[in-house]
Amino acid sequence: MKQEEILAQKVSSGLSILKLLIVFTLVLVPVIFMYFTVGNAWPKVEEKAEAPSEIYVPEPKLAKAPSAWRMEKDENAELLEYGKELIANTAYYIGFNGIKKHSTNGLNCQNCHLEAGAKAWGNNYLSVASTYPKIRKRSGKMTDVYDRINGCLQRSLNGTPMDSTEYEMKAMAAYIQWLGQDVPRGKTAEGSKIYPLEFMDRAADPVKGKAIYEAKCVSCHMADGQGILAENSRSYTYPPLWGKHSYNDGAGLYRISKFAGYVKMNMPFGVSHQNPQLSDEEAWDLAAFVDSMPRPEKDKSKDWPKIADKPIDHPFGPYADPFSEEQHKYGPFKPIQEWYAGNP
Ligand code: HEC
Ligand code: HEC
Repeated sequence: MKQEEILAQKVSSGLSILKLLIVFTLVLVPVIFMYFTVGNAWPKVEEKAEAPSEIYVPEPKLAKAPSAWRMEKDENAELLEYGKELIANTAYYIGFNGIKKHSTNGLNCQNCHLEAGAKAWGNNYLSVASTYPKIRKRSGKMTDVYDRINGCLQRSLNGTPMDSTEYEMKAMAAYIQWLGQDVPRGKTAEGSKIYPLEFMDRAADPVKGKAIYEAKCVSCHMADGQGILAENSRSYTYPPLWGKHSYNDGAGLYRISKFAGYVKMNMPFGVSHQNPQLSDEEAWDLAAFVDSMPRPEKDKSKDWPKIADKPIDHPFGPYADPFSEEQHKYGPFKPIQEWYAGNP
C-alpha cells in the first residue's frame, strides 16, 4: 500500500470513530440524562408494596377535559371563557339577584357540575357533545344541548328557560360542547354524569339521614339547609339544599339515586371518587333526608309521557307497576327492578 492510501484509511477509520462518538453524545447522552431527570416517563418495574390494609381497586381510565391552553387558542376563546364563567357563577349573573337578570334561584351550575363541569364523577359534561341531540324519555322529545340546558334552568335552577339566540345561552352551550370535543360521536365518556350507586337491600331512611346530615353537612350547608349567602348577596358561598333558593321537585337531584351518587363522590366538599368519605348507606340515607325537606314544586304533568319509562326512583305516580309512591321514593328498589325484569 502506498503511503497515501494507508493515511487515507487511517483518516477514514478515525472519522467513523468520530461519527460513533457524535451519535453517542447526540442520542445516548440525552437519553441517559432524561432517564435520571424525568425518570417517571419510563415505565418502571413497581417495587413490591407492603401488604395493603384495604383491597386496592385499580382506577379505570376516566376521561379528562381538554387542557386550558386549548381554550386560549380556540377561535371562540372569548365566548368559551364567558360560558365557563356563567357555569361557575350562574347566580351572580342571572340568579335571584343577578346583575344581568333575575331568572333563576341561588344555585350555580357548578354547584352540581363541579369544577365547571369537568370533574370526574362530579356530574361532568364530557358526554354532552357526543350524545346530543337525542330523544329523552322524560320529555319524550328530541332534545338538543339548548333544550337540555333549559331542563336544568327550569328544574335545578327553578327558573325560566333561555332562547338559543341569547348570548348567555350560546356561551354556556359552546363551553359545554367544547368540553366534550375529544369524545367520539355516540360514545359516553367514562366518569361523566353522576356515579351510579348500587341499590341497597333496604329502604333509604330519612331519620338516619338527618343524623348524618347533622354530623357531616351542617358546617357548610347549615342546620336549616339554607347554606351561607356570599357577601355580594347575589350568590351563595355554600349553596342551599332545600327551600326557596334550591332545586325544585322536578330536578334530577330530587331522585335519590342521583343525589346519593352525587354526594358519595363529591361531599363533604373536597372529596372525589378517589377518596370518598361516605359509605353507600350514608349517601342513600342523606339523599332520603334532604329530598324529604320542603322545596319549590314544578308542574310535572307532561313528564314521562310513557309511564313505563319512569325511572325506578321517580317519586311521582302513576306507575306501570304495582309499587307505591313511597317505595318509588325511598326504596327498597330491587323488588321494583325485579318486577320490571319479569314484566318487560
Ligand atoms: C341542583 C343540581 C344541578 C344544577 C344546579 C344544575 N344541574 Fe345540570 N344536571 C343535574 C343532574 C342531576 C343531571 C343529570 C345527571 C345524570 O343523569 O347522571 C344534570 C344534567 C345536565 C346536562 C346533561 C348532561 C348529560 O351528559 O346528559 C346538562 C347539559 C346540564 N345538566 C346543564 C346544566 C347547566 C347549564 C346548569 C346551570 C344553568 C345546570 N345544569 C345546573 C343537576 C344540576
Ligand atoms: C366544607 C363545606 C361543605 C360540607 C361539609 C358539605 N358541603 Fe355540600 N357543598 C359545598 C360546596 C362549596 C358546594 C358547591 C360546590 C361548588 O360550587 O363547587 C356544595 C354542593 C352541594 C350540593 C349540590 C348543590 C345544592 O345546593 O344542592 C349538595 C346536594 C350537597 N353539597 C350536599 C352535601 C351533603 C349531603 C353534605 C354532607 C355529607 C355536604 N354537602 C357537606 C360545601 C360543603
